[in-house]
Amino acid sequence: MSDKPVLVITRKLSQNTEARAAETYEVRLNPEDRLYSPDELLAQCAGADAVIPCHSEIFSTDIVGQLPQSIKIIANHSVGVDHCDLAALKARGIVVTNTPDVLSDATAEIAMLLLLGAARRASEGDQMVRSGAWRHWSPSFMVGHQVTGKRIGIVGMGRVGQVMAKRARGFDMEVHYHNRSRLPAAQEHGAIYHDDLNSLLRTSQFLSLHCPATPETTGFLNAERLALLPDGAIVVNTARGNLIDEPAFITALRTGKLAAAGLDVFSSEPGGNPEFASLDNIFMLPHIGSATFETRDAMGFRALDNLDTFFAGNEPNDRVA
Ligand code: DGY
Repeated sequence: MSDKPVLVITRKLSQNTEARAAETYEVRLNPEDRLYSPDELLAQCAGADAVIPCHSEIFSTDIVGQLPQSIKIIANHSVGVDHCDLAALKARGIVVTNTPDVLSDATAEIAMLLLLGAARRASEGDQMVRSGAWRHWSPSFMVGHQVTGKRIGIVGMGRVGQVMAKRARGFDMEVHYHNRSRLPAAQEHGAIYHDDLNSLLRTSQFLSLHCPATPETTGFLNAERLALLPDGAIVVNTARGNLIDEPAFITALRTGKLAAAGLDVFSSEPGGNPEFASLDNIFMLPHIGSATFETRDAMGFRALDNLDTFFAGNEPNDRVA
């Protein structure tokens, strides 16, 4: 019997992460990278000390109630923690951490890709060339929306939002933002703060969502709020799908209220919303904001840093509950 703490790693993580984990922990891996059912997840946790889950494992009130007493910490391999019932975990005395900072660059890259792709009709164009349907060219063909110099509204000016603002400034965009609190002037880099979300929406030719999913933000981009955006606005979401009221969003894309959208996240994942597939003006990706080799290592190492600190008897840096 090893005296190493037993660590459940629910999904296949980067090779470097799994190798480092095995140095310090008795690891239970998932080499086939199957999504565990709730029962399988609980079975994996039997007798274990710690778990590194991803956002794909749901720690609902019910699951948390059934976790074995042996589990002391859930060190998420994600910055988002909306898959965890934090109050229930806290009540059980289970420490919870996340992985902030390390995925900001990768996620902002995907947000910019979606913004450009939505504005310049990337998915339509790619599909046309790929399918052999490209038989025509003229100055009036595939005309899209220029990004350079436009106004962008950022909802949630945390770490990812701030990197997104920097990338947008690279395209000479005028940056506006809404956040729970205003950033210190030195961190604003000229971005214009709106303490009222509706005021931000009224000004945003482009809107990019970077706020966490909480009961307060769920469905906030609904029909009333979409109506406040300038006609022909373009919306990008790399945060969480449930920030958007998807039926209202589809109506806005169909009527032209929204010119286009770029989405990496959906209310239902994996799979997304099949109704979106019928719309040419959405550029979609399958929740890959943080999916770079560099960031996967950095996320895995950050989760392990949190575990190592915890098992050394100290407070993990990224404790959220
Ligand atoms: C996150 O870290 O929250 C990303 O969505 C990937 O899980």
